[in-house]
Amino acid sequence: MSQDNAASNATQGDAFENLLHENRQFPPSDEFAAAAVAKADLYDEAGADRLGFWARQARELLSWDKDFGETLDWSNPPFAKWFVGGEVNAAYNALDRHVEAGLGDRVAIHFEGEPGDTATYTYAQLTEQVKKAANAFESLGIAKGDRVAIYLPMIPEAVIAMLACARIGAVHSVVFGGFSADALRNRVDDAEAKLVVTSDGTYRRGKPSPLKPAVDEALAKPGHTVSNVVVVKRNGEPVEWSEGRDVWWDDVVGGASAEHTAVGHDSEHPLFILYTSGTTGRPKGILHTTGGYLTQAAFTHRNVFDLKPETDVYWCTADIGWVTGHSYVTYGPLVNGATMLMYEGTPDSPHQGRWWELVEKYKVTILYTAPTAIRTFMKWGKEVPAKYDLSSLRVLGSVGEPINPEAWMWYREVIGGGRCPIVDTWWQTETGAIMIAPLPGVTATKPGSAQVPLPGIEVDVVDETGASVPNGSGGYLVVREPWPSMLRGIWGDPERYKDTYWSRFENMYFAGDGAKKDEDGDIWLLGRVDDVMNVSGHRLSTTEIESALVSHEYVAEAAVVGAVDETTGQAVVAFVILRGSVSEEIDVVDTLRAHVGKEIGPIAKPKTILVVPELPKTRSGKIMRRLLKDVAEGREAGDATTLADSTVMQQIASSLKR
Ligand code: WT7
Repeated sequence: MSQDNAASNATQGDAFENLLHENRQFPPSDEFAAAAVAKADLYDEAGADRLGFWARQARELLSWDKDFGETLDWSNPPFAKWFVGGEVNAAYNALDRHVEAGLGDRVAIHFEGEPGDTATYTYAQLTEQVKKAANAFESLGIAKGDRVAIYLPMIPEAVIAMLACARIGAVHSVVFGGFSADALRNRVDDAEAKLVVTSDGTYRRGKPSPLKPAVDEALAKPGHTVSNVVVVKRNGEPVEWSEGRDVWWDDVVGGASAEHTAVGHDSEHPLFILYTSGTTGRPKGILHTTGGYLTQAAFTHRNVFDLKPETDVYWCTADIGWVTGHSYVTYGPLVNGATMLMYEGTPDSPHQGRWWELVEKYKVTILYTAPTAIRTFMKWGKEVPAKYDLSSLRVLGSVGEPINPEAWMWYREVIGGGRCPIVDTWWQTETGAIMIAPLPGVTATKPGSAQVPLPGIEVDVVDETGASVPNGSGGYLVVREPWPSMLRGIWGDPERYKDTYWSRFENMYFAGDGAKKDEDGDIWLLGRVDDVMNVSGHRLSTTEIESALVSHEYVAEAAVVGAVDETTGQAVVAFVILRGSVSEEIDVVDTLRAHVGKEIGPIAKPKTILVVPELPKTRSGKIMRRLLKDVAEGREAGDATTLADSTVMQQIASSLKR
């Protein structure tokens, strides 16, 4: 991280200063506290014996084929082994064991398609589908350790495909369906995937929207490792077919046997790879393994959401393409035997009340979503949710970015009717599961703060030297002790794993976030301190978008910043210097936005592209994004004394006036 970013974070920190004097607190009602899953003594237990606490959780929450010995092997940091020697099957834990316990008729998934079609899977039915898919994947030559790319919309087959991989010990790599063909190919190549699971398409605004063409395009150039593509029929639109490579899900899974015995895999067997943006151009394949990941996903899902599996209807609105969809759509809820809602569409189609209509229809009790969605609903007005009966709701979760107190209060009052605890949950793709959050029924919640590390999690805020800061001060968020669902590395790049997370501070995991402790010691997240942006809760790399821009023939140089945006948290703003040969007639902005969409995906398209004559650089040639951020956010540019050419900011300002 550069000084420049630290400085920009400090500026951002000042803007948060007023938040830190937040003095509203919402203690749980006695009634809620009495019935709550989580009890305050969890903190004491974990404080007294952290490893013993996690060992107990692992044994209570999961069914092990073979018990583990040592809880944590940290003899070769930062490479951790949790629940050493244990054997466990993720799919068995999510499925078969519930059926064996007599819960086969409980609904696992209520599926609501975007056009309004529905499907229900009980635990027995979901188990059968996963067994069939496991047999199908095996029949296509997929064996333990092989990588499978899953590129699907939010349909039950996404969960079935993930669990089928987990069952046979294949490693899934889910690629968000909104990523482009190029982005898919990069991920397929990096993981050397043998199989791709996709669909003909999905629906958007009531109309079919294609997906398979992106897979065809991704695999058009030879040199990849994919031998088969399994295609789910979702919208029934015609697709191109590659004989010998492509197979229909309905044929290969539909025709497979429903007998499949799950065997335990080593606790440290890889469960999945999930790519996320870092500070350099190349996405990182974050690796998670089995026993530790499942333990923390299940523990947090149960305690942070106060899950009562017999009665709750849980809805996490995240797509399975992100880590939230892994831990809190697939693994956490199913391992806990929960009933969930899965929804394919967007919040505003066919009308702005769709989500609330679904809450009413399915009597959703626990809702987990992102601040960007809440701010969008605020914009639409409280009359929209007011038309529906939201009285079934009892716990509301937030994730992905800092939630401003106004949005928090709106969520509490308008959606939660003033009665539901709000759990703001801080975590990352790398942490695998929630790390900082209030516990409903225990913690008095505070608008805008994620508040406290969970039992068994050692989070701190430190200064430049790695020293813990006192209450009332800010610094960098770190994790001081290994945790069960921590990433085990970056796929194929152990050095990058060490450099990225473990080199900034000695013996501490550096999360890349700035944070402050308030007077009570509660933690407030202040956003990234590195070149990572957060747009609608999605992580995007400034350098990745810059590389995409300069790969276009029009562009000589590019700099990208995340500028504050009322709805999406941050918005991508790009500054580009064009090549001399580009004629003024051409619509540069549209062309470049489309180009970024093609290279990465629509979510990465800059909201604004500004053509400038120069970029502000230090004498060593580093772009001072802080100054560009000032411009993008409409402020007077800050201290520019370290610029190599002190007139650059003026040149930019006058070029933008024109
Ligand atoms: C980054 C991780 C965790 C699943 C979704 C995002 C930001 C996440 C919060 C929160 C403030 C948050 C951080 C973090 N973030 N949750 N509750 N409050 N910031 O996962 O794509 O890996 O992004 O999201 O900046 O580092 P991700």
